[in-house]
Amino acid sequence: MLRGPAAALLRRLAPHVSGGGCGGAIHRRVPPPIASSLLSRFSSAPTTFSSSPPSSSSVAGHDEAAKEEETTEISNGDSGDRLSISVDRSGLYNPPEHSHEPSSDSELVKHLKSIIKFRSGPISVAEYMEEVLTNPQSGFYINRDVFGEGGDFITSPEVSQMFGEMIGVWAMCLWEQMGQPEKVNLIELGPGRGTLLADLLRGSAKFVNFTKALNINLVECSPTLQKIQYNTLKCEDQPVGDGKTTVSKLCGAPVCWHASLEQVPSGLPTIVIAHEFYDALPIHQFQKASRGWCEKMVDLAEDSSRFRFVLSPHPTASLLYLSKRCGWASSEELEKVEQIEVCPKAMELTEQIADRISSDGGGALIIDYGKNGIVSDSLQAIRKHKFVHILDDPGSADLSAYVDFASIRHSALEASEDVSVHGPMTQSQFLGSLGINFRVEALLQNCTEEQAESLRTGYWRLVGDGEAPFWEGPEDQTPIGMGTRYLTMAIVNKKQGSPVPFE
Ligand SMILES: C[S@@+](CC[C@H](N)C(=O)[O-])C[C@H]1O[C@@H](n2cnc3c(N)ncnc32)[C@H](O)[C@@H]1O
Repeated sequence: MLRGPAAALLRRLAPHVSGGGCGGAIHRRVPPPIASSLLSRFSSAPTTFSSSPPSSSSVAGHDEAAKEEETTEISNGDSGDRLSISVDRSGLYNPPEHSHEPSSDSELVKHLKSIIKFRSGPISVAEYMEEVLTNPQSGFYINRDVFGEGGDFITSPEVSQMFGEMIGVWAMCLWEQMGQPEKVNLIELGPGRGTLLADLLRGSAKFVNFTKALNINLVECSPTLQKIQYNTLKCEDQPVGDGKTTVSKLCGAPVCWHASLEQVPSGLPTIVIAHEFYDALPIHQFQKASRGWCEKMVDLAEDSSRFRFVLSPHPTASLLYLSKRCGWASSEELEKVEQIEVCPKAMELTEQIADRISSDGGGALIIDYGKNGIVSDSLQAIRKHKFVHILDDPGSADLSAYVDFASIRHSALEASEDVSVHGPMTQSQFLGSLGINFRVEALLQNCTEEQAESLRTGYWRLVGDGEAPFWEGPEDQTPIGMGTRYLTMAIVNKKQGSPVPFE
C-alpha cells in the first residue's frame, strides 16, 4: 500500500483524462516492432561505424590518403564480427579541386563540410552531434516539431498524461520536504512540446499553495519548440509596467524561456526536471588502439561527397575528460571496454545543477535511458521512427546517446559537499513507488473504452518490460515497455533528506 506524502498527493490529483496515449506510435528509443530484432543489437552492441553504413555514406579512400592510413580491426560487440575502420595518419586534409557544380547538399551538410575544410581536418563526434542537433539555423531540433507519430520519435510525456502527473507528485513531495517555500524555481531542461509540464500543472491544480509558489523556467534552444510550449502551457502575455510577463493559464505561474541553465536567475529554492535532455548532449567517442586511446572523428571522404569516421592521429584536448571519466571507473570495468563515450557537457551541466541546489536548496530529477557505468558505443540516429546511419543526411535525424549515470553521480558529488545523489532506479520502480498503479486505476474508473485502451497501453509503455503480453491488436503496433531501460536519478540538497521514492 502506498503511504506518506506521495499517497496523500496522489489521492487528490485532478481527475482529467486527456485521451492521451499514442496507440501504435513509436517511443523515441524503440524502433517499430519490424525493427525490434535490431533493438537488442542497438542496445548492447556498437552501432556507429561498426554497423554497415548506407552505400551513400560508405568511404572510398583517396590513393595518397590510403597510403597514410592503416586499417584497424575492431570487434563488433557480442556478434564477434570483424569490422574495418580507417585510421587517418596524415592529420592533413587535402582539399579537392574547387567545383562550380550545383550542390544538392542541405545547408547543414554544407556547413559541416565547410568547418572540416576550414580546419583542414576532421571534427570530433561531439562537435558533429552539437551542430546536427542544435545548429541555430538548421539543427534537427531548431525548425520543426520532431515528436509524435508524424515526427521522428515519441517520448514518455507524449505516451501518457500519467508520466507528467507522477513527476508532479515527485516535485510536490520535494517542495514539502523543502518546507513549502513561498517561491520556487521550477526549471525544465529541454521541455519538447511542453507536455510533461502541462500534465504536471493540471495534475497539481488542486494544490494551490504549490502552484502559487511556482516560477516556471524553461531551458530550450529551439524557437519552434518554444512556441509549441507556449501554446501547450496555455500561456498569455500580460502587461507589466513598460514590459510584459508571460503567464501560464494552467496555474497562473509566470513562465520564462532561457537558452541555458546558467541564464536562469538563481536565488530561489529550485526543482530541476531533465527528461531526455542529457541524451541529446554531445558526446566524444574514444577507441582503444595500439597507440592508446584515440578520439573518433568525423572527416570528409576524399571526394568531399560524404562524411566518414576516422581516428585522430594526434591526442585531442578532450582526452582530459576521458582521463577524468576513467578515474571514476574500476580497472575491471575499464578492461572490458574497447570504446568509451564521454560527455563533458553532461559533467558541466551536473556541476551547475549541484552548485545551484547547494546554494539555493531543492533538487533535480534526471530521467533518461542509460547505464550506471561507462557507456561504450551507444550513439544512434533515428529518423521517422527508424534507425539510420549516424552520418546519413545530418540534421534530418535525431542523434542521441546513452546517459552515463555514474558520471553524473561523480560530477555532482565532486561539485558540492552539500548535495546527495540518489539512484539510479528504473523508471518502472520510480513510477511504481510513486503510485502510478493507483493513478491508472483511478483514471480507468471514468473513461471511454477508447481512453481505457490508450491508458493501458500507455501504462505498459511507461512501466513494462518488452512487448505487452495483453496486446491483441496488430502485431506491428505491439506496445513496448520502456520501464527498465529508462533510469531515474535525483540530486538534492542534503538539508532536505532523501527524496521520495529513493528513501
Ligand atoms: C529528446 S527532446 C525531449 C523533450 C521532452 N523532455 C520530452 O520528454 O518530450 C530534447 C529537448 O531538449 C532540447 N534541447 C536539446 N539540446 C538542447 C540544448 N543544448 N539546449 C537547450 N535545449 C536543448 C530540444 O529542443 C528538445 O526540446
